[in-house]
Amino acid sequence: MNESDKRLAALAAVAEVRPGMIVGLGTGSTAAFAIAALGEQVRAGLQIQTVATSLATEASAREAGIPLIEMPARIDLTIDGADEIDAALNAIKGAGGAMLREKVVAAASERMIVIADGSKRVAAIGAAKIPVEILPFAQAFVAARLAELGGAPIPRAGFVSDQGNPILDCRFPADIDHATLAAAIDAIPGALGQGLFLTEVDAAYIATDGVVTRLERGDASA
Ligand code: 5RP
Repeated sequence: MNESDKRLAALAAVAEVRPGMIVGLGTGSTAAFAIAALGEQVRAGLQIQTVATSLATEASAREAGIPLIEMPARIDLTIDGADEIDAALNAIKGAGGAMLREKVVAAASERMIVIADGSKRVAAIGAAKIPVEILPFAQAFVAARLAELGGAPIPRAGFVSDQGNPILDCRFPADIDHATLAAAIDAIPGALGQGLFLTEVDAAYIATDGVVTRLERGDASA
């Protein structure tokens, strides 16, 4: 992972922010660069409102002097990281455990941009663990259903989400159909959210060795 590439990708996405926008703020080390850049712009006079995808991001935004609002019905632009992203803008998120709020924010967004260094770009998603946040009451039941789906679920040790829930990290077979899998996980009562982002991402800025590449949903390359 390359910190200066993370920063370059973040700056490219922040360049899309316009005055008056409601901006979704992602979670993680790459999103932190976007929050820092937005903080500088806000201190220089940019007027925006933001929605945080996690308590950690909320604290960072507050520290940077960025105005925060409660989750609204609609967001203009969201900038967030990813654990894996492919050319078709399928992504896996949630290594930081914030994928439930991140998906709500992404789904509410007119435009959702993933920012990443080149280590996150993959030919096809599926090597990263897919996290599933669960209702504590339902843990044994959901774990059994995830195992039936081939997910080999492992509880994330010493972790509870911002909602106070555990996460099961799952490794599914590499050749699994992710759209079918996402629908199957979403249908398990007690599974509150999972880290497959198959339809939410509109664009990605991926920086490798100082060069930023933009992927746009619907482009020939995406
Ligand atoms: C948190 C996430 C993060 O966006 C993802 O894990 C990437 O984090 P980083 O930029 O630190 O690699 O999905 O739930």
